[in-house]
Amino acid sequence: MNLIPKPDKCIQKSGFYKIKNPFRIKRPESKFEASYFIKKLYLFKGVRVIFTDKNPDLIFTKDDKIHNDEGYFLRIDNNGLEIKAAKEQGFFYGLITLLQIIFQYYPDLPFCEIEDFPVFKWRGMHLDVSRHFFDVSFVKRYLDAMALYKFNVFHWHLTDDNGWRIEIKKYPELTSVSAYRKNLEHIPWREREKKDYKAKGIYGGFYNQEEIKEIVNYARKRHIKILPEIEMPGHSREVFAAYPQFSCKRKKLTVAPGGYWPNTDIFCAGNDETFVFLENILKEVSSLFPFEYIHIGGDEVNKSNWETCPECQKRIKNENLKNVDELQSWFIKKIEKILKKYGKKLVGWDEITEGGLNETATVMCWRGDGKKAAMLSLSKGNNVILCPNTVLYFDWRQSYEKGEQGDFGVTTIKKVYHFNPVFPEIPYEKVNKILGAQGNVWTEFMNSEKEVEYMVFPRLLALSEVLWTNPKLKNWNDFKNRLLNHFYILDLLQINYKKRIPEKL
Ligand code: ACM
Ligand code: ZN
Repeated sequence: MNLIPKPDKCIQKSGFYKIKNPFRIKRPESKFEASYFIKKLYLFKGVRVIFTDKNPDLIFTKDDKIHNDEGYFLRIDNNGLEIKAAKEQGFFYGLITLLQIIFQYYPDLPFCEIEDFPVFKWRGMHLDVSRHFFDVSFVKRYLDAMALYKFNVFHWHLTDDNGWRIEIKKYPELTSVSAYRKNLEHIPWREREKKDYKAKGIYGGFYNQEEIKEIVNYARKRHIKILPEIEMPGHSREVFAAYPQFSCKRKKLTVAPGGYWPNTDIFCAGNDETFVFLENILKEVSSLFPFEYIHIGGDEVNKSNWETCPECQKRIKNENLKNVDELQSWFIKKIEKILKKYGKKLVGWDEITEGGLNETATVMCWRGDGKKAAMLSLSKGNNVILCPNTVLYFDWRQSYEKGEQGDFGVTTIKKVYHFNPVFPEIPYEKVNKILGAQGNVWTEFMNSEKEVEYMVFPRLLALSEVLWTNPKLKNWNDFKNRLLNHFYILDLLQINYKKRIPEKL
């Protein structure tokens, strides 16, 4: 069967069960959300669903012997269909598998027994909405596609130098000012900063808190948790377009219209008011997102202003710190304490390890192959998520072909497919500290939804198998054959994907 990600065990048997329209489902006793399945089933095959106890085609059975919360058992035989799971997530993933089966075989579903569970608990996709803004309907589309391939974390990069995208009631100018930049979209990204172009900020947008709640709820129904990212202390120039008092130079800046490098304007770590400001923001963010984690950025901090800022230097002296690296470490630890107050755990990019880190933080390893940061973090006891830029940055080109979209290097789908977050150097006793991995989508060079989709698909399908399937079961040629079948699904969903699997892999 052409299932992606490949299930742990799948035995096809002889015979078929014909499903009818409407498709009759007996509700399980536990709380149960089937709207995603119902909508997709109708879209895929025009089949409607009714819930009934009388002669159902599909029954759900709660089975506490299934130890993985996301695991399920699916059986199709003469008597009909049965999905067993211990938790709602398991039922959901059983239904996703069933959707893929129905898509291919409707109306005659082959008899089978499938026993399945994921190898990683963090199966993520990221989206940068600062460099270019993507509206609520696109975010939902993204979540929909993630759900079909059993991803469960959406990392939402909500703030960066090029625009602040989340309404914060206490600081309205973060959206009225910091969400909009000069419209230089006709000029290449890296040349915009040089243009002394006087104009009002008009390009951008943001999500108000009602929209955030709507998206969180939409994701919840698809068993996707949302990891919001609020960047600090660097990648924060847009903040100083509205609240310059929290940077070292206290100078009013503009929201960066394009590439901003070196990114020297960062939060002042010497000013106590900075932390009051950040706490108020994180308090609102914590109340909007139920996920236990918040991402606070921490990457690519150019600390040159900290070297010369009298207040930052005073902080270094008063806190007995050696240098600006230790000041960054002090900053991150202080933010971690704030997050703890609101019941949240800290996630940051791998630079947060520099100058020391509490072992309670989770580290996203992104630089190079990610191994150096991962080994260091594991040795200190931190949990790790892998998203190495050489493999899992979907803003990189996906083939060597001429005219291919994307910047930086090349990451083919085959390279993504062969990635394993648990690399051989990891000591056996540390393997459970690797929570999983995620694909990152930086949008400097993607100014439309179609471009985002082109960069993400079909590589997302390869990543789904990296994250869900036992590596011993992976096989490139077998995956490639199944993938071609999934192109029909992507077509039906009207996703703009790269249709040719690159020749040079
Ligand atoms: C990053 O790509 N700067 C995390
Ligand atoms: Zn300072």
